[in-house]
Amino acid sequence: MSSKQHETIYLEDYQPPAWLISHTELRFELEEEQTLVRAQLSVQANPLVSDKRRPLELFGDVDMELCRLSIDGEILEACDYQRKGDRLLIENVPESFTLECVTRLLPHENTALEGLYKSDGMFCTQCEAEGFRRITFFPDRPDVMSIFRTTLVADKALYPVLLSNGNPIESGEDGEGRHWVTWDDPWPKPSYLFALVAGDLAMLEDRYTTTSGREVALRIYAEPKDLDKLDYAMQSLKNAMRWDEDVYGREYDLDIYMIVAVDFFNMGAMENKGLNIFNTSCVLAHPKTTTDQGFQRVEGVVAHEYFHNWSGNRVTCRDWFQLSLKEGFTVFRDAEFSADMNSRTVKRIEDVSLLRTAQFAEDAGPMAHPVRPESYMEISNFYTLTVYEKGAEVVRMLHTLLGADLFRKGSDLYFERHDGQAVTTDDFVAAMEAVSGRDLGQFKRWYSQAGTPRLEVSDSYNPETCEYTLTVRQSCPPSPGQDHKQPYLIPLNIGLLAEDGQELYSGMLELTKEIQQFRFDNIASRPVPSLLRGFSAPVKLEYDYSDEQLLMLLSNDPDGFNRWDAGQRLCIRLLQQQMQRYRDGVPMTCPETLVTAWRQLLLDESLDPAMVTQCLRLPSEAQLAELAGVIDVAAIHDAREFMRKALAEALEQEWLMAYQRCDTGEAYSPDAESTGRRSLKNLALAYLMATGREPWLELTRQQYEQSDNMTDQLAALSLVAHSEFRETAEELLQEFYQQWQHESLVMNQWLAVQASDPTEGALERVKELAQHPIFDARNPNKLRSLIGSFCAQNLSSFHAEDGSGYIWLADWILKLDKQNPQVAARLLTPLTRWKRYTAERGSLMRAQLQRIIDTNELSADVYEVVSKSLI
Ligand code: PHE
Ligand code: ZN
Repeated sequence: MSSKQHETIYLEDYQPPAWLISHTELRFELEEEQTLVRAQLSVQANPLVSDKRRPLELFGDVDMELCRLSIDGEILEACDYQRKGDRLLIENVPESFTLECVTRLLPHENTALEGLYKSDGMFCTQCEAEGFRRITFFPDRPDVMSIFRTTLVADKALYPVLLSNGNPIESGEDGEGRHWVTWDDPWPKPSYLFALVAGDLAMLEDRYTTTSGREVALRIYAEPKDLDKLDYAMQSLKNAMRWDEDVYGREYDLDIYMIVAVDFFNMGAMENKGLNIFNTSCVLAHPKTTTDQGFQRVEGVVAHEYFHNWSGNRVTCRDWFQLSLKEGFTVFRDAEFSADMNSRTVKRIEDVSLLRTAQFAEDAGPMAHPVRPESYMEISNFYTLTVYEKGAEVVRMLHTLLGADLFRKGSDLYFERHDGQAVTTDDFVAAMEAVSGRDLGQFKRWYSQAGTPRLEVSDSYNPETCEYTLTVRQSCPPSPGQDHKQPYLIPLNIGLLAEDGQELYSGMLELTKEIQQFRFDNIASRPVPSLLRGFSAPVKLEYDYSDEQLLMLLSNDPDGFNRWDAGQRLCIRLLQQQMQRYRDGVPMTCPETLVTAWRQLLLDESLDPAMVTQCLRLPSEAQLAELAGVIDVAAIHDAREFMRKALAEALEQEWLMAYQRCDTGEAYSPDAESTGRRSLKNLALAYLMATGREPWLELTRQQYEQSDNMTDQLAALSLVAHSEFRETAEELLQEFYQQWQHESLVMNQWLAVQASDPTEGALERVKELAQHPIFDARNPNKLRSLIGSFCAQNLSSFHAEDGSGYIWLADWILKLDKQNPQVAARLLTPLTRWKRYTAERGSLMRAQLQRIIDTNELSADVYEVVSKSLI
C-alpha cells in the first residue's frame, strides 16, 4: 500500500489558522548534489482563534528530510513533535516564538517539478498549490500570509543570476567561488507565491512608469540562446500594465517586475510575487519560430500573470476551494485585455469554442465539479476548465448583469475591502451586491452547482395583436453528488430581427425561474430571434431554427458572434445528418444552400478575413463528440472529412482566389489584421489540399519553402504531413527536423503535427517518436506534444477499434505517475470519458482504467481521477 493516504478534504471543514507567521527568513545553500534550506519563522497565536491549545500544524512532504527543528533555539527531539503523513504537529508551544527548521533537498532528482527543481541547468521553484511543503515545513495554506526575506547562496560561475521575490537588498561573495544575494519582499504573501531562480541567464530590460509616477524595472530572463525571443513578451507586459491602470485603476506595487522562462514546467506560467516563472512556450516569441497562435498565447499569458498581482496576490484565496476567485476573475480580465488589443469578436469565438468543446465535456464527465468545488483529494486536479474558463464566464455574467460602470465600482470595492486578505468567492459577490444594491443569492448557484444548464426556447406570434412571445425553460442535468439543480439567474442577451434582417428589438432578459415567458409588443411581422448574443451565459441553447433562418442570421445579425454561431449551428446540423447517413449506409451529401452561403462569404472582400475564417472552419471532431449522445468516432470523422472534401471541391476556384487575395507578401507582423489574413490564407490552402489534387500539393510545398514565418511554414507542413502524399510528407518532416532541431519549442510542434496525423499507422509513428532523441519524457511540453496531441487531437487513431491507443496511454500513465503525477493525471483525461462512447470502445477504455487502479502506490493525483471515473 501507498504510504500516502488519499484522504478527501471538504470545504465545510474549513478552520481558520490557529497560528500566524508574521515573518519568514529563508536561506538556500544551492549545491550540485543537494540544497540545504534554513527557515526561520516568527510564529504568533492567531488572536481571532480562541482555542489556544491547538497544536502548531506544519506541512512537509513525506519524503522531505528534516535535519533540525528548534523553538527559540532549543532543539526539538523526535518525541517533541509528530509526523503524520505530510503533517507535522507540535503541541504546547508558547504564544509567540521563533521556529527554526533545516531541510535537505535533492532538486536534481525532483522530476515532479513541484517545490525546488532543476530545469536544464537552472534552479527554479513551483509552489502553487502545495509545493512549498517540498521546500520546508510551513503552514502551507493560502490564508497564512507572511513577509519573506530570502538569501540564495550558490556557485558564482554556474549561477551568476540569483533571484527571489521583491527587491535585492544585500549581496556578497564568500571567497570560494560562491556568492549570495538577499531579497526582501515587503508585501505579506502566502507561501504558494514564493519563488527563487538561480542560473546563467540572459536578460532583456525595459522600464515602465506608473500613473502615480513609480519607476518599475521590467526584466525578462531566459537562456542566452533565447534572448532574441523576448521582445514581444516585453511589449505585452507594458500593454498589460497600462490596460490594468486604465480599465481597473490598478498599479504595480514593487520596483522590479521579473519574468523567467523555463523549459520544464507543468503548467503555462505562475504569478509568484514580483518573479513570475513561465513555461518557455508562453513567453518566447519570434516570427521565425512562433506561430500567430503562439504570439497570442504569449500576449494573453503575460497579461494574465501580471493581472494576478491584484486579482490573486494583493487579494488572495482563503482556501483552495476558492481557486476561481483569482483564476476566473483573472481569465476574465485577460480575455478582455486580448479583446481590446485584437479583435473582440474573434477572441470571443475562440474562447467560446474552447468552452463548448472542453469545458462542456468536463461538465458532462466523471470529474464534473462546481466552479467552487466542495471537496477534493488532490487540489492539482482542480486547475480545470471549469475553475478557469467557466469561472471567467461567471464573472462575465456579473459584468453583463451589472453593466460596465457598476462592475468597475464593485471591483474597486472588492480590492479596497480585501487588500492584503485571503478571501472567498462570496466576498467577491458581496462587493458586487453592495455597489448594485442587488441580492445575488440566486446568482451564486453558478458557483455551487456543477453541470451545463440547458435552455429550451420556443416562441409564438400573433399577427392580429402584433405580439411576440418567447418561452424559455431552463434545466441542468445531474452531476456527481448533485442530482437536482435549482434554477439559475441567467442573463440572456437577445435581438429580434425582421425577415429582411432589420433589428426590431435588442436587450437583456433575466431568467430566474424554471419556465418564463417574455412578451414583446408592436412587432409588425414574425421575427427571427437572435438568442444568447455574445454567449451571454455558459449554457446550451436550443431553438428550432429553420435552415433559412440560420442563413439569414449568418448574413444579417448585427451581433458578430451570433452571425458566426448561426453558421456553426447550420454546419453542426448538416454534419449530424451526414453522420446519420453514414450509420444508415446511405451516401452522404453536401447541400447546395451551404455551398452558396460559403461562396458568398468567400467572395465578399469587405468582410474581416479573421471572421470569414471562423465561419468557414467546420466544428472540430472534439466538439461534434461533445454534442453526440453516444460518441461514434468513425461516423464523426468520416462525416466531417466528407463535408470538408465536398466544400473543397465545390468551391475550389473561390478558395484559390481567397488564398491569392490574402497572400500579400507583406513582412510578418503578429497584429490582428495580418494574423487574420494569414488565417484565411491557410484555411483556403487546407481546403485546396483537401481536394487531394497535385497542383495544390505544389502550392503548399512552395509556401513551405518560401515562407519567412512559422505560421505559414507550419501550416504548410501539417497539411502535407496529414495528406495522402506520404513521400512528400516524409521529406518535409525530415527537412523541418534538420532545420529546427535546436529549437525546443519548434520541435514540440514537429511532434504535435505528427501525433495528430490521422492517416494510417499513427500509433506506430508516435511509438517511434517516443524513442526519438528529441523526445524527453521528463519534459511536460514534450509529453503534451506527443501523448496529449495523439489522445486528444487524433480521435480516430486514439480510438482505434482494437483498443491499442488506450493500452498505449495507460502504459504511459503508469510510467509517468512515478515521475510526474500532475502531468500523468492530466494526460489521463481522454480515457475517463469512456461512458460517452459506443459500448465496445467504452469497455476497452474502462479496462485500462481498471488496470491503472489495480496498481499499487498510485499518486493521489492519478488515484482521484481514475477512481472517480470508475464510479
Ligand atoms: N496560477 C497559475 C495561473 O493560472 C497556474 C499554475 C497553477 C501554475 C499551478 C503552476 C501551478 O496563472
Ligand atoms: Zn491564473
